Amino acid sequence: MSAPRPRVWVSQPLFDDIVGQLAAHCEVEAVSAVSEHAPADVAAALRDADGALVTLNERIGAGELAAAPRLRAIANVGVGYNNLDIAALDARGIIATNTPDVLTETTADLGFALLMAAARRVTESERWLRGGHWRQWSFSTMLGAEIHGRTLGILGMGRIGQGIARRGHHGFGMKVLYHNRSRLPDAVERSVGARYATFDELLAQADHLVLVLPYSAASHHLIDAAALARMKPTATLVNIARGGLVDEPALADALANGRLAAAGLDVYEGEPAVRPELLALRNVVLTPHIGSASLATRRAMVQLAVDNLLAALGLGPDAGRPPTPVTATKTTAARPGATDAAGIATGKTAAGKR
Ligand code: DGY
Repeated sequence: MSAPRPRVWVSQPLFDDIVGQLAAHCEVEAVSAVSEHAPADVAAALRDADGALVTLNERIGAGELAAAPRLRAIANVGVGYNNLDIAALDARGIIATNTPDVLTETTADLGFALLMAAARRVTESERWLRGGHWRQWSFSTMLGAEIHGRTLGILGMGRIGQGIARRGHHGFGMKVLYHNRSRLPDAVERSVGARYATFDELLAQADHLVLVLPYSAASHHLIDAAALARMKPTATLVNIARGGLVDEPALADALANGRLAAAGLDVYEGEPAVRPELLALRNVVLTPHIGSASLATRRAMVQLAVDNLLAALGLGPDAGRPPTPVTATKTTAARPGATDAAGIATGKTAAGKR
């Protein structure tokens, strides 16, 4: 008699043709409509599951795991995985994986787009035009900050941070400073055109500061009122990592009172809720966590997650060797560069940030 096929839970509608590959090896229970799963729903879904394909909207910690005796693998569709309690997964020997690399350039593109839109007041200008205000034009209408040739600060210098550095240095002739838990090798610094700075130097010198570091308890509200006060009042702040890095009321206050010129945010502490004080401001560009949202990249992320899940369950061509694990596990063979260099990727890196 053949062994029963593993059961896997797919927490959100993803790409049917890619997720469908699981059905060759597993019994699949796929959620068919976008869902906000309460912790009890996640626990119920995992009760009989051997594996799960989840997004950052599903939080999985010790409580959910306690109700999931068969669980062996969780494939997160995303590079950040602060939605998973890695220590609790490790303690149970459950393999967790993420989706680094495939989203690096797309996410760096969005970071740069937010920087440019905020600094050059692109969305504010569009609202003004659509509001019928053009006849009130003057020579000082919508004056923004210079981007080319200015100082770009990057907090968290993993793969995405390096992608932003390359764009700033090679594309816009910017002076690029970065701060990270560990300094990059000289050759990497040279190739991306970036120079290491202390946290304080970065805050003080950046004309535009982009946050690309992992989120954890250690990086919670790293950008608070005190940090904002050390930035130039003409500066732009961009957050494409996790909302919890920024004290949002302090940011809204700085933006409202001229202590910071502009911000571009793709992530929020209580997303999908966005604080009313941010929504009310004209000088902040707000996008709904779309860093990796190009069709090609989102498909590549789901494909990598499916490959990871099958391999972590001992199935498919990579059986036993998931391409991009984040838990320490004897059964995995990590690809070089799949973990710590990510900066944005691993909860274990960059001073424990996202
Ligand atoms: C990630 O992959 O961590 C992104 O934030 C999800 O879009």
